[in-house]
Amino acid sequence: MDILRFTTCGSVDDGKSTLIGRLLYETKLIFEDQLEALQADSKKFGTQGERLDFALLVDGLQAEREQGITIDVAYRFFPGHEQYTRNMATGASTAQAAVLLVDARKGVLTQTKRHSRIVSMLGIRHVALAVNKMDLVDWSQPIFDEIELAYRRFAQDLGFETIMAIPLSALEGHNIVDPGHAAMPWYEGSTLLNWLETIPSGQYEIAQPFSMPVQWVNRPNLDFRGFAGRVSSGSVEPGDSVRISRSGVVSRVKEIVSYEGPQQSATSGQSITLVLENEVDASRGDVIATAAHPIECADQFEVGLLWMSEHALLPGRPYAALLHSKSASVTITQIKHRLDINSGARLAAKTLGLNEIARVNVSFDRAVPFVPYAENKRLGAFIVIDKLTNETVGAGLIRFALRRSVNVHWQALEVTKAARAEMKHQQARCFWFTGLSGSGKSTIANLLDKRLHADGKHTYILDGDNVRHGLNRDLGFTEADRVENIRRVAEVAKLLVDAGLIVIVAFISPFRAERQLARGLFDDGEFVEIFVDTPLEECERRDVKGLYAKARHGELKNFTGIDSDYEPPQSPEVHLRTVGIRPESCVDQIIHLLRS
Ligand code: ADX
Repeated sequence: MDILRFTTCGSVDDGKSTLIGRLLYETKLIFEDQLEALQADSKKFGTQGERLDFALLVDGLQAEREQGITIDVAYRFFPGHEQYTRNMATGASTAQAAVLLVDARKGVLTQTKRHSRIVSMLGIRHVALAVNKMDLVDWSQPIFDEIELAYRRFAQDLGFETIMAIPLSALEGHNIVDPGHAAMPWYEGSTLLNWLETIPSGQYEIAQPFSMPVQWVNRPNLDFRGFAGRVSSGSVEPGDSVRISRSGVVSRVKEIVSYEGPQQSATSGQSITLVLENEVDASRGDVIATAAHPIECADQFEVGLLWMSEHALLPGRPYAALLHSKSASVTITQIKHRLDINSGARLAAKTLGLNEIARVNVSFDRAVPFVPYAENKRLGAFIVIDKLTNETVGAGLIRFALRRSVNVHWQALEVTKAARAEMKHQQARCFWFTGLSGSGKSTIANLLDKRLHADGKHTYILDGDNVRHGLNRDLGFTEADRVENIRRVAEVAKLLVDAGLIVIVAFISPFRAERQLARGLFDDGEFVEIFVDTPLEECERRDVKGLYAKARHGELKNFTGIDSDYEPPQSPEVHLRTVGIRPESCVDQIIHLLRS
């Protein structure tokens, strides 16, 4: 079965759903009432402004038409960018063509350029420039010609094989399915449908070596264990020799089962269960592939990244990632450059905003099986998810694995942390103070340090103001800089704890994600989070360093509590409510907890 997948993109009100509605209606894939419902839906799902809006992905349009069947087409709305990204790794990224809508009155907009760059980055090579609403510009040929010329100039370097500019009116139905001769006698090119029918469908995936990520393991009875998943490239038959990623174990395919029963073969895109000849181990996230073309695993990559959140990308912050069926934690370690949407120029960047495209290095917390995106769209794409909000915030396309990960090994040290701590007659620990500026962190931390020291303990104190004079002298107070500030300090604290010391850290450390990252570096029980809970009003009243006054007068930007967020801990080991309590009794509370 030949399936053509295409995606439409355009700004709000360019007429995406009108166009799709027309296409479905005129090819008799939907009836009039469904057309109305579709359009009503699109109003309900209306998107705003600059948000990415890949509206609709229609599967099987051509196939159904050829068979002359009138059925309900499975159509899905991707109303905002969020749904779009969720589906991107499997959906829009596997489209063979893109229909870019522009409003004839407005011409090529930044949004059109942005979509084009994304479409190009996704590896889509056939593009229709649908110049819509021609009825509103009196079917003017000069206007159409000008838009086409401007677009071709812009798209020169995007690697498209075909660009087809079509003047049309989705509302009146010209040049969608029926030619628009009467209105535009000057246009002799094809209609949108005719053009779509010339696009070669996804056969290339089938010509590739076989691969399938394992989605889950079936064990309906004791002597039948099957690996279920969707074939991501190539084809497979019983008797084929296959290899399992990570373990490298080789076996043969004994049986292929689909929901229709046993199969003689399966190809890219099909969902199947594979039964192998030997009892082998594989779990969710592994990839089964042709033995002669084993799947590599790596943990560091160069990646094309599309950022899809209003909340800026923060290098150094751990995000969740989903790569085919494998979940992991991922950190963007370096932004190599960001693309200028209009010119394509490579710009330096410390962070990324909504809908920006960049080349970055990433580091996963474990090795993952992968194939570069250019070779395999399903095994080379991953989505990035905010760990706290669960929102999809980015999409990554793997270019290649970085060798570094292979050549830097962890050096095992023979004198252990426990041995070092024991010699000091103590348990190594990290006391992590967090709270607003002026909340009393440094004061309490210092008192605690003095007490422990007097008690014969070996301690060290890391204080925000001090570390910012040396190691972190290059960092300011933007969100991105604070994330890096805390990441470095957490790593230093970890080394000191490893040396057997009791480390006291006093940093505002305003974000939960980085405090979680810090916690994750330590063994159980080693990390003690202490929330110095002093209300903003009180900190501001004390204003020891006069910084609140400056911030209120607009002389100090990004000040915590004023115009930069503080996310209080949800379950700290120690919660100090300081109002009306002397710092000494705060220290007592901590010591008391330690004893218990
Ligand atoms: S953190 O947010 O990155 O953890 P850190 O604890 O290192 O901050 O530094 C906070 C100290 O820097 C404050 O106690 C204050 O003296 C000083 N400071 C200067 N500018 C700011 C600002 N914009 N926001 C917060 N603290 C600031």
